[in-house]
Amino acid sequence: MALTPLAVTDAEVMVEVLADPELYRFTGDAPPTLAELTARYERQVSGPPADSRTRWLNWIVRYEGRPVGYVQATVQEQPGAELAELAWVIATAAQGRGLAAEAAGLMADWIAAQGVPRLVASIQSGHRASERVAERIGLTLTGVTDEEGERVWERNLSLV
Ligand SMILES: CC(C)(COP(=O)(O)OP(=O)(O)OC[C@H]1O[C@@H](n2cnc3c(N)ncnc32)[C@H](O)[C@@H]1OP(=O)(O)O)[C@@H](O)C(=O)NCCC(=O)NCCS
Repeated sequence: MALTPLAVTDAEVMVEVLADPELYRFTGDAPPTLAELTARYERQVSGPPADSRTRWLNWIVRYEGRPVGYVQATVQEQPGAELAELAWVIATAAQGRGLAAEAAGLMADWIAAQGVPRLVASIQSGHRASERVAERIGLTLTGVTDEEGERVWERNLSLV
C-alpha cells in the first residue's frame, strides 16, 4: 500500500474506483461523473482560501501500484482549536485487506506528528467497517452526533 498526493489526472482512474453505488450506502452520495470528479479534484488540489486557517490533505491509496481509494483530512488550524476531520473510502473490490485501516492510520499519525492534537471522524451508526477503521486508528466514540446525524469519533491527544 502506498499513499500519493492527489493530482487532477487521478480523476480518470478514480471515476472507475468510485463507480459502485454500494460505496455510498452509508453516506447517501452517488458515484461522480468524470466531469464532476475532475472539477472536485481541481478544487481540492487548489486548496482552501489562503486566509481560512484550514488545510486540506487528499491522498490516493494505491495497492499494487493502482489507485483503489483515498483518505482525506480537513485540518483546522485556529490556535487553541486545532482539529483534523478524517474520511476514508476504498473501492469495493479492494476492501477487506486492511487498506483503509493502514491508510487512515498513516494519515492520522502524520497529522498528529504535525502537532494537531484532536482527530475526528463522523460515521453513520451501524457502519461497522468504518467504525472498525476508526477503532483501529485509535478513535473512540464521543457521544456527540453531528448535524447530518452521524456519530462523532475522536482521538484527543491533548487529554493524554
Ligand atoms: C469503510 C471502508 C473504507 C473500509 O475499507 P476496508 O479497506 O475494507 O477496511 P479494512 O480492510 O481496513 O478493515 C477495517 C476493519 O473493518 C472490518 N470490516 C471490513 N468490512 C466489514 C463489513 N462489511 N462489516 C463489518 N466489518 C467489516 C475489517 O474486518 C476490519 O476489522 P478488523 O481490524 O477487526 O479485522 C470501506 O468499506 C468503504 O470505503 N466504504 C464506503 C465508503 C465509506 O462509507 N467510507 C467511510 C465514510 S465514514
